[in-house]
Amino acid sequence: MYIPIKDADQIEKMRAACRDGALVLDYIAPFVKPGVTTGELDRLCHDFIVNELGDIPAPLNYAPPGYTPFPKSICTSVNHQICHGIPGDKVLKAGDVLNIDVTVIKDGWHGDTSRMFYVGEPSVLARRLSEVTYECMWLGIEQVRAGAFLGDIGAAIQAHADKFGYSVVREFCGHGVGASFHEDPQVLHYGKAGTGVQMEAGMIFTVEPMINAGRRDIREMPDGWTIVTRDRSLSAQWEHTVLVTETGYEILTVSPGMPAPPAFVARQVAASQPADAPSAGTQAPGTQAAA
Ligand code: MF3
Ligand code: CO
Ligand code: CO
Repeated sequence: MYIPIKDADQIEKMRAACRDGALVLDYIAPFVKPGVTTGELDRLCHDFIVNELGDIPAPLNYAPPGYTPFPKSICTSVNHQICHGIPGDKVLKAGDVLNIDVTVIKDGWHGDTSRMFYVGEPSVLARRLSEVTYECMWLGIEQVRAGAFLGDIGAAIQAHADKFGYSVVREFCGHGVGASFHEDPQVLHYGKAGTGVQMEAGMIFTVEPMINAGRRDIREMPDGWTIVTRDRSLSAQWEHTVLVTETGYEILTVSPGMPAPPAFVARQVAASQPADAPSAGTQAPGTQAAA
């Protein structure tokens, strides 16, 4: 296993790519409303990424071994869809919840981030699942620092999901990210503290737990990409790209519109944000979709 350690120059390029990824999510939030199709959200994001940011949408034609090329520029995973949903003709209706996952390539470097969005008012369950999943992501991120173990991340996430009777998807995980979309290490969202690879300053990876309201079992749809819960229960996911530092972490996928971290996160998250930028999120997780 080769885990790239990024130098100062590479980290600066990752900050720029990751910020752009987060800006795409800020941009699309007000368009997530009843009546819009996931295909329209894709087109809007594609145009923003290409024309406004001057970046490349990494998912478009992405074809890892064993996969057909992904046909769109973002992933939209609605309700019981866990991840890798392909945007299309699906019309969003009030009460739907979805994950929008954006990865841009800027100057050869990848920024990967996703958030949950509510279409109108969510059900009590959908809101709670989204919020608990957000807490799971942050509890995982809070484990990050040089010398800690990757297993610490998974253990923290799993413990929190278990508390609510939710389940953690095991087939997909966080991942190293940089000049490649997906590279080592694998960041499992379950496991045992004190196990696995030890983190080093300069590693960059995602934390992106997928949490199901029901059982953890998955099914792949015939399109070859979309992953759904086997029991058709709701699923939620949040994703940040994170840099390991000597004393902790730096969130790279920061933007003015990102939701605030949960209250238990004491640290100043947006260390890389300019001082005059709006504070990181005045919105509760998942509420950034305009009603
Ligand atoms: N962005 C996803 C991740 O977090 C990967 C999507 S691959 C795609 O790793 F081809 F479906 F876009
Ligand atoms: Co990712
Ligand atoms: Co992603």
